[in-house]
Amino acid sequence: MALNAQKLDVMVPGVEPSGYTIRIGRGMLGGLWDDIRSQWPKLNPFIVTDAELVKAGHLETLVGSETIPTYIIEPAGEISKHIQTVVQIVEMMETNVLGRDSIVIALGGGTVGDIAGFAAAIFKRGVPVVQIPTTTVAQADSSVGGKTGVDSSVSKNAFGAFWQPAAVYIDVETLGTLDDRQYRAGLVESVKHAAIMDAEYFDFFETNIDAILNKDMRVLEQIAMTNCRIKAEVVQQDPTEKNMRRILNYGHTIGHAVESASEFTLLHGESVAIGMIAAGKLEKALGLAADGRLERIEGLLVKLGMSTVIPAEIKKEQLIALLGKDKKAIGQWPRFILLESLGNTLCKNEQWAHEVSRDIVEQCLDDLY
Ligand SMILES: NC(=O)c1ccc[n+]([C@@H]2O[C@H](COP(=O)([O-])OP(=O)(O)OC[C@H]3O[C@@H](n4cnc5c(N)ncnc54)[C@H](O)[C@@H]3O)[C@@H](O)[C@H]2O)c1
Ligand SMILES: [Zn+2]
Repeated sequence: MALNAQKLDVMVPGVEPSGYTIRIGRGMLGGLWDDIRSQWPKLNPFIVTDAELVKAGHLETLVGSETIPTYIIEPAGEISKHIQTVVQIVEMMETNVLGRDSIVIALGGGTVGDIAGFAAAIFKRGVPVVQIPTTTVAQADSSVGGKTGVDSSVSKNAFGAFWQPAAVYIDVETLGTLDDRQYRAGLVESVKHAAIMDAEYFDFFETNIDAILNKDMRVLEQIAMTNCRIKAEVVQQDPTEKNMRRILNYGHTIGHAVESASEFTLLHGESVAIGMIAAGKLEKALGLAADGRLERIEGLLVKLGMSTVIPAEIKKEQLIALLGKDKKAIGQWPRFILLESLGNTLCKNEQWAHEVSRDIVEQCLDDLY
């Protein structure tokens, strides 16, 4: 039976195969397995998921009564995103006599997607991976674009590869079991997409904020489609982040510093929310902000339950030191993605990341306590 889903094709220049399809729907998890089987009838599936997804019943919905070799990441979450988990996945695939004719199915949030995608990228020099994202972060961001990887004991995503998915299936109903804090924080990436690329989407998000917070599945389906369209548009133009893809880092430069200084007690989206407000303050200081823009962005983030100030225990000096170590710093100071207007990112001399002096950044940070 055909899946009841909307489709979005993503082209990826320069790699084989040259693209993939994202399917988005409500309640289609139970019908996916037949679709995967019929698309890749000759490949042997191997599932990677985590303990929370099993508990929530999503693995059972996906496979029904079939027995498929499955690696269950435990404990769930970032703590398991290290190379040892990948080693165990690869070895379990070998123990199950899987070879180059296998296909990895990633069922879960960004953590599962990043781990499974990386394992697929290196297993026997690479086998296809199908992404079935189940968090607001993964449905808006990590499942599309092909970045995969795991953390080292020194830094995040130290082991990594670009490995484009063979397909992405987004069932927004899986979000029904996601914890509220994770759900809201993940929506910050949607606000970011609207801010950098699509003013109309920003209006839509504002108008429908109550429906979004109440998990109205029809609205969630619409925002999943818009998020994927925006992310796909960016990654198609710059699949390996040479330049334009950097706009997806809006709010992330200061956001990453806040996330790291909080020792990851703040979620990624919660830190990026603060980072987006910081970026808005930089725009104001540089004379780039139209009246009311920052206030609208901040208003939406507050409705999502995000804090708009830096926690007092994080010192400004700590953030400045972390900014100097940003992975994209040049001369120990990062460049910043800035908005030109709501829905448009500033591009000057073909560059998307801009110099902002340390003084201005310090003043804006002072303003955030
Ligand atoms: N590759 C990329 O482009 C990219 C982009 C953004 C983030 N990421 C990565 O994604 C990771 C974060 O992903 P995340 O925010 O999705 O968190 P996550 O995958 O760690 O999931 C958060 C928690 O929610 C649980 N969970 C997931 N889906 C659920 C559901 N439907 N119902 C109940 N529980 C559920 C998980 O088991 C976990 O405990 C980070 O490692 C980050 O680096 C990657
Ligand atoms: Zn992010």
